[in-house]
Parts: sequence; structure tokens; C-alpha cells
Amino acid sequence: MAGFTNVAFRLIAKEVGGCGLVASEMVAAIGPSQHGQNERFRVLTQNVEAEKPLAMQVYGREPALCAETAIALDRAGADIIDLNCGCPVKKAKQSGCGVSLMKEPEQVGRIIKAMSEATKKPVTIKMRLGFNAENRNMIEVATAAVENGAQAVFVHARTGESKHGTAVDFSGIAEVKQAMTALRGAQFPVIANGSMDTAEAIRRAKDEGGADGYQIGRAACGDPWLFRNLIAELTDQPTYKPNFAERRRLLERHFDLVCELFGENRGTRVMRKYTFFYCNGLPGVRKFRDRFCRIADRSAFYAVVDDFFNNLSAGRYGEDDIAEHLSLFDRGDKESDEAEEA
Ligand SMILES: Cc1cc2nc3c(=O)[nH]c(=O)nc-3n(C[C@H](O)[C@H](O)[C@H](O)COP(=O)(O)O)c2cc1C
Repeated sequence: MAGFTNVAFRLIAKEVGGCGLVASEMVAAIGPSQHGQNERFRVLTQNVEAEKPLAMQVYGREPALCAETAIALDRAGADIIDLNCGCPVKKAKQSGCGVSLMKEPEQVGRIIKAMSEATKKPVTIKMRLGFNAENRNMIEVATAAVENGAQAVFVHARTGESKHGTAVDFSGIAEVKQAMTALRGAQFPVIANGSMDTAEAIRRAKDEGGADGYQIGRAACGDPWLFRNLIAELTDQPTYKPNFAERRRLLERHFDLVCELFGENRGTRVMRKYTFFYCNGLPGVRKFRDRFCRIADRSAFYAVVDDFFNNLSAGRYGEDDIAEHLSLFDRGDKESDEAEEA
């Protein structure tokens, strides 16, 4: 997820456990000369052994540039290289990238072919069910991708104009799975995405959609325990509720990792959003909202976190302060905002 799934975030998810494959933020296919040399590419692709296997993602539309980017990602340490055919932001639509590629199955085929020829790493596609409801052509796109070398299909089970809050279409996943089974056999992996953040959604993606795996985006922000808790729920094990001390410990570890990646100055700013997510839903968080948004350096971070958790432990908040647990953030517009920034 652009703006979120950097190495710090991914490592936290892996350390808490339950998450099998992590994915980078998308990397724009801007031209070979620019890869590997700029700071942005370093931040987007930095990775560590402990998080492996790691998928990195190409965002673009020119086969040659996407192939060059695939090579750069391969060299940077990607284990899987994915093509973004789902990003719905204005910039993507204007430039024929992201979800716009859903309108051009043949171009998708050309890009995947070029990427597959450029790297020995598995190439995959992340797509939607169509550019919009009138053009629900996911089978055509998945087929073009797979016939040209894609080795797995990730399906965000909505069309391009659907908001995040809208229901996911499990029958769309089923249609893709059936078509890929006919093309490559039942072992061919089709991964379901889109609000796969409850045991119920995962059961439905498996039972109704025939999905082979489940990809979680927004719900993991601030709730890295989600992966193992979903597995626990699905296997009738008790779920795990981190206490305040553990939330704080992980938040501080995340802060250190983010500062390592970006340096203290930028890292502190980047950390603001995560800090808020970690504390969102906890008693008293609303009173700290402004302070979380203004953290400017390491000492300010620790001061606010200290105050927040000390108040929490001292039980200084009444029932009326208890916000709804894990209403993490307005899931509607974040993708647009962040990807526009990216
Ligand atoms: C802030 C934000 C950034 C995203 N960036 C990417 C991205 O870089 N690549 C991608 O394939 N999807 C991206 N997505 C889409 C998610 O991966 C996912 O498909 C979508 O949010 C639905 O899944 P979810 O309900 O689990 O979040 C982004 C979503 C959000 C909210």
C-alpha cells in the first residue's frame, strides 16, 4: 500500500506473525536511469531478510519500462514481482496506469510478457473485476496476464469505481478462479483481496470464491495482530488481545524502524499516522488526536506516547471516552490521498 507498506511496517507484521507474504508499495516504471539512484527508490525497495518472502510491485504501462523496473526490483531483493492493475486514483486513470489497464487486456499481456522475460522471479498481477461495473472483464485480463507469464492473480473483488466501503463481489473471485483452473489447473493461485479482515469474509472467499489465499490491506494498519487473530479464529483457537504495554512496545519499535528508514526528521513525520492507528480505539485517544498529528521529533514522540499510555494505565478515562475499537480510519478516501501523494 502506497504510503504504508515500507520495510518497517512489513517487518512489524512479520514479527507479530500470521502473515505469510508481504508486499511493497508500488514502484513507478519511470525509466531505467532513475532506478537505483534516487532516495525514493531506496525507501520503496529497502528490505531485510527477516520479512522474506517479499513481493514488490510495478506501476506503469510501457512494457519496456515495466520490464526495466522489474529488473531493478529483482536486483533490489524482490521474491515476486507484481503488476498494478488496480490503482483507481485520478493520476493513474489519466496516464493509463493502474485500474485503467483493466480496459486494455492486450496491453496487460504485453507488459506481463516483457516483465516475465526480464526476470526469473515469478511475475503476478493485482487487478480488479473491471474498470467499472459496465466493463466487468476480469477473466479477459487475468487470461491475458496468465497466458503471458503471470504465475498468480490477486483479485481486489470490486470494480474500479467502487468505494472501499462497498460490498466485495465473491462471485467475481469465483469466476476468476474457475477460469484460471480451466487454463492452468486447480493449483493455480488466485488470491482474494478487498475487506478480507474478518473470519467471515475469508470463509466466504474460500467457500464461495474458491480463493487460495487472502490479501489484507487497510485493516492491518495499527492492528498487526490481525493476521494471527484471523488464523486463530478460523482454526477455533483463542484470539490474542495485546495489552496496553504491548501496544506501546510495538509502537516504539515501529518508530525506531521508521526512523532507521527515513532518518529522525522525516521518520517522525511519517510515524504520525501509524501512531494514531496504534492508539485509535483506545480510551482517551480523541484527546490526543491533535498531539499525535503534530509530533515533530523523537522527544515529542516519546512525550506524547508517555502521556497517552500513562493516562491509559492510570484509568483516567471514563466509559464515554471509549471510541469504537479498531474503527481504524475512514477507509473511504485514504487510497486516493496516499497514492496521490506517492
Ligand atoms: C493508502 C492505500 C494505498 C494503496 N496502495 C496500493 C498499492 O501501492 N498497490 C496496490 O496494489 N494496492 C494498493 N492499495 C489497495 C490495497 O492494496 C487493497 O487492494 C485495497 O485497499 C482493498 O483491500 P483492503 O480492504 O484489505 O484494504 C492501496 C490502498 C490504500 C488504502
